[in-house]
Amino acid sequence: MSVLNILIVCEEEEFSSLIRSKLPEEHKVTVVSKKDVGPEIDRISPDLVFVIEEDDAKGIEIIQTIQAEYEATYLIYFSHNQDFVALRDVIRAGANDYFVLPEELDIFAQKFSSIAETAVSQSDDGGVKAFRRGKGKVYSFFSGKGGSGTTLMSLSFAQTLKLESTANVLFIDLNLQYGGAETFLGIESHRSLADLIPVMNELNEMHIRNALEFEKHSRLELLLSPCDAEAAEEMNEVFISKLIRTCRRFYDFVIIDLPHSMNVNTYTAIEESDKIYYVLTLDTPSFKLFQRIEELFQRLTVQTEDRLEFIVNKVNKDNEIKPVDLKSLVNFPVALEVRKDIKGVQSAVNVGEPMHKSVDDKKLPLPAKDLRKWIRAFLK
Ligand SMILES: Nc1ncnc2c1ncn2[C@@H]1O[C@H](COP(=O)(O)OP(=O)(O)OP(=O)(O)O)[C@@H](O)[C@H]1O
Ligand SMILES: [Mg+2]
Repeated sequence: MSVLNILIVCEEEEFSSLIRSKLPEEHKVTVVSKKDVGPEIDRISPDLVFVIEEDDAKGIEIIQTIQAEYEATYLIYFSHNQDFVALRDVIRAGANDYFVLPEELDIFAQKFSSIAETAVSQSDDGGVKAFRRGKGKVYSFFSGKGGSGTTLMSLSFAQTLKLESTANVLFIDLNLQYGGAETFLGIESHRSLADLIPVMNELNEMHIRNALEFEKHSRLELLLSPCDAEAAEEMNEVFISKLIRTCRRFYDFVIIDLPHSMNVNTYTAIEESDKIYYVLTLDTPSFKLFQRIEELFQRLTVQTEDRLEFIVNKVNKDNEIKPVDLKSLVNFPVALEVRKDIKGVQSAVNVGEPMHKSVDDKKLPLPAKDLRKWIRAFLK
């Protein structure tokens, strides 16, 4: 049997362990509490979802949410009581099967292989793809250290991706207080994420369209920062999560420039991302800081394996640490090395222009060249 991704939605460790103990070991099991179910589903696209109730009414609610928002293909409900009327409601809400705990645990174990087969055959019909709520990929650019080039890298990545492909690309600046991207692009007073505050609870594609700015050469779509502490205060993690999910449905790529501080909004955006590009420079402070961030990720149980990659920026012959020494220092893959080119970058930044303006650009600053080469390979 192939390895299945199984998501258990459960508040109490005792019950999730009980169910886990009945599953063949080869499967990949993730346990989440109800409040985290959204980001986890988006991230791991499970083949099977188990919802373990502690209170019937809430159980139904969570099934409805999962089915309405994620088109789950196979969902099993575990109940603690034999109330068949309640269980019928559970099926109506969208569960595919249910078992009563603990009496039916052995029946569940016996039936598991046929359940797994059904789940897999459903997903072969395109179920797993449909299971993901949105089709787009979300890539976040992050660094614990200011000035590493997070904004330049994320913005140039988005710009080049837009120029070199037919993909729908959206750039979001989540530096809510100070922004940054608008100055790189010479955009002054502008529409921004602040325009979404009044419609935060019913956010849809139209609202997003109305808050967009565009980069004039590539027509890259941008959701810029309000650059306003008060507006930033109003944007909580629920908004961030909703924003990213809504955008993921309408764009092929959502590229996010994250602030350097690890607050709950940053954490939420990271959790919603398919990839985290950590921008690192080749000096001791940058490495030390990364170690602290790595520890923090562990404590927050942020999954970094297969998700976190480095972009090593400002590479030049004077670097304190050599790129070849990277492997012995860090455990994550290096996606890209970007050369330092102060003159080239400044001549673009000083006039508020992106480094890369058209597909035909022959003379590009070194960082833009490095990014373009990488993105071309990536698009193949
Ligand atoms: N490869 C590079 N070559 C030359 N200059 C670079 C390179 N990468 C970034 N810079 C410059 O370094 C400075 C910091 O870059 P950027 O603003 O992108 O970093 P950041 O991590 O977003 O910083 P902030 O803390 O301001 O958010 C900018 O002046 C930028 O032009
Ligand atoms: Mg920045």
